[in-house]
Amino acid sequence: MTGGSAPRLPPPPVPIRTERLTLRYITSDDLDALRYYQDPEVCRYLPFPTADEAALNTRVALMTQRVAPSEPDDVLSLAAVYDGALAGDVMLRLRTRADAETPPSVAEIGWAFAPSYAGRGLATEAATALVRLAFDHYPLHRLVAHLDPRNVRSSALCDRLGMTREAHLRQDWPEADGTWTDDLIYGLLREEWARG
Ligand SMILES: CC(C)(COP(=O)(O)OP(=O)(O)OC[C@H]1O[C@@H](n2cnc3c(N)ncnc32)[C@H](O)[C@@H]1OP(=O)(O)O)[C@@H](O)C(=O)NCCC(=O)NCCS
Repeated sequence: MTGGSAPRLPPPPVPIRTERLTLRYITSDDLDALRYYQDPEVCRYLPFPTADEAALNTRVALMTQRVAPSEPDDVLSLAAVYDGALAGDVMLRLRTRADAETPPSVAEIGWAFAPSYAGRGLATEAATALVRLAFDHYPLHRLVAHLDPRNVRSSALCDRLGMTREAHLRQDWPEADGTWTDDLIYGLLREEWARG
């Protein structure tokens, strides 16, 4: 949360239970389970490099603070716990609002799961709960996901969520090595979600 004035939006109603998962806040005790951020395969299409020990510590410390987004750029990070273990995490980042008086109305969503939990629909289940939270709890009008177009597992997940592939921006993301990556944008409107 950004400092200063009181939050405009209430904190999320966590823990959130789904058929197989519990979504809860991340704590410093989750550091070992979040070591998938040290796996180059997991980070291959993420907009930050594979974490070394210092970066992992910084990342987890940040995630533990992402509990009550209220202003643009505030983030919510939730652990997805399966069978007593952290299997992955999902995030919601508030983006824009119509004017200075209103809460943000657009948010970005994202996810990462440990490879050992892949292929069981767990990321889809967690992301579905995140979308439900986004539209039931926050006054959001629209959700977006930004993907490297080569990230086919993530784009399949967006498809499963019922998101629409809206744009393919060419060479939009600068890489550390001076090259450029395309940006695939998926969107989901509140009215589409409500229609099911
Ligand atoms: C993106 C990511 C979370 C997707 O993981 P995933 O395992 O493909 O997704 P799910 O957990 O939803 O599993 C879906 C698979 O389980 C299968 N499945 C089994 N039971 C299922 C169920 N009940 N519901 C849905 N799918 C189910 C699906 O058919 C699908 O199988 P497939 O891979 O053969 O098509 C994962 O690849 C990842 O963490 N990547 C690294 C981080 C990353 O790139 N994040 C995105 C940045 S934009």
